Amino acid sequence: MYLTNEEERMYQGEYGDTVRKSMEILIALGDIYEAEKLVDITSAQISGVSYKTIGDAGLDYLEDLALDKLTSAKVPSTLNPAGTDLDNWKQLGFSKNFAEKQNKIVDAYGALGISKTCTCTPYLVGNVPRFKDYVAWSESSAVAYVNSVIGARTNREGGPGALAAAICGKTALYGYHLEENRKATTIFELEDEISGIDYGSLGYIVGKEVGDGVPYFILDKNNYINNKPTNNNLKSLGAALASSGAVALYHIEKITPEFQIAEKDDINSDNSNKIAISAEDIKETSENLTSSIKNEADLVCLGCPHASLEEIEEIAKLVKGKKVKNDLWVCTSINVKAAADRMGYTKAIEDAGGLCVCDTCMVVAPIEELGYEAIGVNSAKAANYVPSMCGLDVIYDSLENLIKFK
Ligand code: F3S
Repeated sequence: MYLTNEEERMYQGEYGDTVRKSMEILIALGDIYEAEKLVDITSAQISGVSYKTIGDAGLDYLEDLALDKLTSAKVPSTLNPAGTDLDNWKQLGFSKNFAEKQNKIVDAYGALGISKTCTCTPYLVGNVPRFKDYVAWSESSAVAYVNSVIGARTNREGGPGALAAAICGKTALYGYHLEENRKATTIFELEDEISGIDYGSLGYIVGKEVGDGVPYFILDKNNYINNKPTNNNLKSLGAALASSGAVALYHIEKITPEFQIAEKDDINSDNSNKIAISAEDIKETSENLTSSIKNEADLVCLGCPHASLEEIEEIAKLVKGKKVKNDLWVCTSINVKAAADRMGYTKAIEDAGGLCVCDTCMVVAPIEELGYEAIGVNSAKAANYVPSMCGLDVIYDSLENLIKFK
């Protein structure tokens, strides 16, 4: 792979050992994927944060890297969700040992110049690339969002690759960074109008169908007139696509910014590459995503991907002045929670018996240690992962149906 003089110096260790090791990772990735060169990135988003998933080995690795006081991330970079709320872990019932180790992991990232903002929706809190920027993001739902909705360019980076990219400010030029790999592979035509959790169910169906392909959606006409998809709908869709499949990029006709480069007509000249999806398909998938035989969730866990301010507002309006029967967590970033505090949404949720939980989520936190059996979720991604990652049953439904009142 071609390296500039400056990149060669980084690779030879002139800027310290952490930069050298990071360049080794980037060059190894570039060689595997036959990249011609490295390119400058404008942002990074790094997974490998939860102590539940990276354990002591990951903590030791990061603390070792952080010993190099000369190294700091070259581009704005944020973290994926951690294993607990970094401040309010006690209130949620997590152990002191777990919380201390979790905070050490985040501190090590902080020492490397990575913002200690732990969220899978970095695009809601200032980590917002521009159209066509090269970036290195690793959380799969955020990758789908930044590629598809913003039109920046990233591969599905692993945690070490994204960290190396943040430290060097570069990534190898291959995969979704190249326009030729951003074309549609299969067309999905919606026969009926969709809304709410339908977007997650749709993503779940299509992710299974396309694997790591690039789906192209044609929505029902009503979704182009009165009921256009919101950014919240698109984040649910991308999260589900990336969890049942390995989708990193999708296009929606006349909605997402690169639908015209998708070249859908090229892949569908004989109409064989088009799959119709009906309201019945979506209903059946939504029902199948529930694994619990219980009718009510012990814990309703919302905010997958991390809730936006508008989503928290909707929950606050629903529970205001009432008492919720289930335990209720609304997962979000510390930044969005600060805005929700100021708007009075957090108070409305807390007064009803719920909690606004920062930094973590129902999948990367060890919720299996808290004694719950059935988790209520309105996210198809969470419905897909909670049984396998936490060993708990899920009820997948709209938030209005999940939340029960006393
Ligand atoms: Fe985010 Fe956790 Fe869902 S990382 S996308 S809230 S599984």
